[in-house]
Amino acid sequence: MVKGRLLLCKKVVILVSGRGSNMLNIIKAVNSRIIDININAVISNKKEPEAFSKAKYYNIPVKSFGNNIKLFEKRLLEYINKNNIDFILLAGFMRILSKDFVNKMKDRILNIHPSYLPDFPGLDAQRKAWDKGVLYTGVTVHLVDSGMDTGKIILQEKHFINYTLGFEEFKNELLKLEHTVYIEAIKLYLIKYT
Ligand code: GRF
Repeated sequence: MVKGRLLLCKKVVILVSGRGSNMLNIIKAVNSRIIDININAVISNKKEPEAFSKAKYYNIPVKSFGNNIKLFEKRLLEYINKNNIDFILLAGFMRILSKDFVNKMKDRILNIHPSYLPDFPGLDAQRKAWDKGVLYTGVTVHLVDSGMDTGKIILQEKHFINYTLGFEEFKNELLKLEHTVYIEAIKLYLIKYT
C-alpha cells in the first residue's frame, strides 16, 4: 500500500527568483500531507534568492543554475532527466522559458499569476488592475506555453477589490489567495488528473 503510494507520487521541482512565499506554502502543504507530491529541489536563476533559506530550513535541496537562460534550461533538463522529474512548478520565477524548452516539457509546467487571466498578463499585474480601477481581479494557475501567461487555465479565482484598503493590503490579500489556489490546482492537475 505505502509502496504503491510512493510510486504514484509525482516528482516536482519548484523554480523561484525571489521571496518564495508560494514555494514555502507548497512545502508546508506537502509536510502537513495536504498534497502528496515529492519536491526534489528548489531551483533558481539567482545565486541566493530569499526563497533558498526558506527551502533549506525544510531540508529541500536548492540549486542555482545561473542567469543565462540557455545554460539554465540545459542544466534544468539534465536535472529533470537524471531525477525523473514529472512537473515544474513556477513560483515567482522571473525569466521567460524558451519555446523549445516549453515544448519539451509540454503540459508539465505550471505557473501562478496574480490576475484573472487573460486580464493583465505580464509584470505588475496587481498594479495594473488597481490603477485601472476594475471591479475584480484574481489569481490564475495555468500551464506554461511559449506566450506570456497565455497557457491553458487550470484554475482561477476572482478577488473583488476593496479600494478603501491600501494597495499593499490588496496585494497581500491577493497573495493569500494565490497560496490557496495553487494548492488546489496541484491537487486537481498533478494529483487527480495526470
Ligand atoms: C507572485 O505574486 C506570483 O504570482 C508571481 O510572482 C510572485 C511571487 O511571489 N508570479 P512569491 O515569491 O511566491 O512570494
